[in-house]
Amino acid sequence: MSDLYCVFGNPISHSKSPLIHTAFAAQCGQDLRYEALLAPIDGFAASVRTFIAAGGRGANVTVPFKEEAFRLATRLSVRAELAAAVNSLRFDGAEIVGDNTDGAGLLRDLRVNLACPIAGRRVLLLGAGGAARGVVAPLLEQRPATLVIANRNVARAQQLAQRFAATAGASLLCAGGYPELAGQSFDLVVNATSASLAGALPPLPVAAGVFAPASLAYDMMYGKGDTPFLAFARAQGAARLADGLGMLVEQAAEAFHFWRGLRPDSALVIAALRARSETGPAG
Ligand code: ATR
Repeated sequence: MSDLYCVFGNPISHSKSPLIHTAFAAQCGQDLRYEALLAPIDGFAASVRTFIAAGGRGANVTVPFKEEAFRLATRLSVRAELAAAVNSLRFDGAEIVGDNTDGAGLLRDLRVNLACPIAGRRVLLLGAGGAARGVVAPLLEQRPATLVIANRNVARAQQLAQRFAATAGASLLCAGGYPELAGQSFDLVVNATSASLAGALPPLPVAAGVFAPASLAYDMMYGKGDTPFLAFARAQGAARLADGLGMLVEQAAEAFHFWRGLRPDSALVIAALRARSETGPAG
């Protein structure tokens, strides 16, 4: 019988994860079945236990269950602990092992697929929710010159910066609101807000030179055509634009490795998905 995997979320019907993992399994000659499972908002833990009882070997976890998955895990990877969120579970006997592959997925997309160096660069991270929290440590590991976290709710941005202050090393890590960005410019701007999901734009200052001439604007969301953030970045002179489809596939490749010990060819799957993209979150 095939090994069973799934992704839990609510909503989940538009998830591309079954497509991605089925492609990875075919590439790597792995006999597994992967399905999308809708967990009730108040029934995530029960859904996981039912899946384990049915022989499930592992699962991905998406919105809104990543924090609950973090609490459910009996063992955590260091990066899951830092992110305080789990997007991948492995069921090892009585253990529920939690990992978070979102940050590694973003970093691999930036560095390998987009050839965007981060060391010594000025990086701006928009948002201070779960999606932002998962990528702060991996960004800091690359030793940017500065990492600025901007959020509407400034206290939330400050708390996030404080949480990672000890891992900043020589990088300057600071936090603030959107108006304070006027007059500063960045080589990489990552949109980790959920604004694009609602067709909205984070309140970046207009005509303030936030996007340096050779900058890359990266939206963790993906969609048909430009997201509102990418359209804004284009108009503001960002040199390169990227949506979160690459991150979606790369976090899945990391999860596949966490489960099966094998690394699939993610570039092939990204290319295949490019033709048929719809709106969704990368994580
Ligand atoms: P997620 O886990 O997807 O990050 P979240 O924890 O609810 O979800 O966080 C959503 C993030 O998107 C927050 O940083 C939120 O900003 P506030 O903390 O100020 O609310 C941000 N966000 C959502 N809609 C936004 C918008 N229209 N403009 C700017 N930021 C927005």
